[in-house]
Amino acid sequence: MWFGKKKKTEEIFLEAPEEGNLWQRLVRDFHSKELKKRLKDMGLRRVECYSDGTVDIQGFYGDFAVNVQIDPDEIALGINEDEPDCDEIYTYDSIPDGDFYGFLKRRLDFYEKGEALPSSKEPREGLEPMADFFAARAEGYDEHMLSEVEGCKEGYPLMASLLPKSTRSLLDLGCGTGLELDEIFKRFPDLWVTGIDLSRDMMDRLKQKHPQKNLMLICGDYFRVDFNDRFDAAVSFESLHHFTPEAKKKLYRKVCESLKDGGVYIECDYMVDTQEEQERYFAEYDRLKAEQKLPEGYYHYDTPCTVENEIKLLQQAGFASVEQVFRKGGTCMLVAKKG
Ligand SMILES: C[S@@+](CC[C@H](N)C(=O)[O-])C[C@H]1O[C@@H](n2cnc3c(N)ncnc32)[C@H](O)[C@@H]1O
Repeated sequence: MWFGKKKKTEEIFLEAPEEGNLWQRLVRDFHSKELKKRLKDMGLRRVECYSDGTVDIQGFYGDFAVNVQIDPDEIALGINEDEPDCDEIYTYDSIPDGDFYGFLKRRLDFYEKGEALPSSKEPREGLEPMADFFAARAEGYDEHMLSEVEGCKEGYPLMASLLPKSTRSLLDLGCGTGLELDEIFKRFPDLWVTGIDLSRDMMDRLKQKHPQKNLMLICGDYFRVDFNDRFDAAVSFESLHHFTPEAKKKLYRKVCESLKDGGVYIECDYMVDTQEEQERYFAEYDRLKAEQKLPEGYYHYDTPCTVENEIKLLQQAGFASVEQVFRKGGTCMLVAKKG
């Protein structure tokens, strides 16, 4: 996403220090022809690389047409049997170890073999970084949610049933393996979905379940990714109970702005009853982070807010009406409508 005047890649190439960031290193590789060489070495055929502010790669891998667009903020990947179009977006911090070539090779193999690779992450003791936590549990995740988490089995079909009949485009925050989308696609088979998630391992399961659907998957942090489109509806299921009310309020504002007039946001999440409970969870999270001397970042630990606070945050973010429609155990569903 560009802001202001574009910088030519030649200028970046000349200015970038030897050890630049990944974007600068890729521009450097483009100009030194290293990019093309590395792509051919990994098995890409008929590779063409262009530069016009961004770096564009086109080629073929097995039966797939491959299109990669690299810009200063993100890398968009289209790997399709027919027309290439960009259907996966990666922010730079979601590329493991900044290793673009290894990452691209794994994506190509994922598509060619049609199966998710085993995750490189293992469950660990103590607080785990959010993306690692879910990567280590992507396998078996669906069964866990449907059989172990009270209210989920009923919540997924309910969410699908509450979307307005006219919904054509949907934003899903923390889409994961797409349990809510499994139900939503039953009612809206031609829906255009933009799903955002920190964990590529989780989204690979979603892609495997719905290879033919109109899915644009963004591997990144929904607090930081720009929602460039306008959507008829947005949803989030069991994802936001890890974040502070302040962060959520900003996110809800962004969601509200990204909805068309009359649009609806449906959230199903873990919520608690009292302010004391909410504060206890946040205090314990702070204590654990301090005890484990963890640097800034997102760690997996439940910090649910009260239903009342959630409703207030959504109202303050600009939603005209907010209603609680479901509760089972700690799982609650809210429907927020934009005026
Ligand atoms: C409990 S799972 C829910 C997945 C799916 N919505 C469901 O109900 O099955 C939570 C998901 O939110 C994602 N997530 C957590 N924080 C995120 C963030 N800041 N940005 C994007 N995704 C995030 C996690 O990676 C994980 O896949």
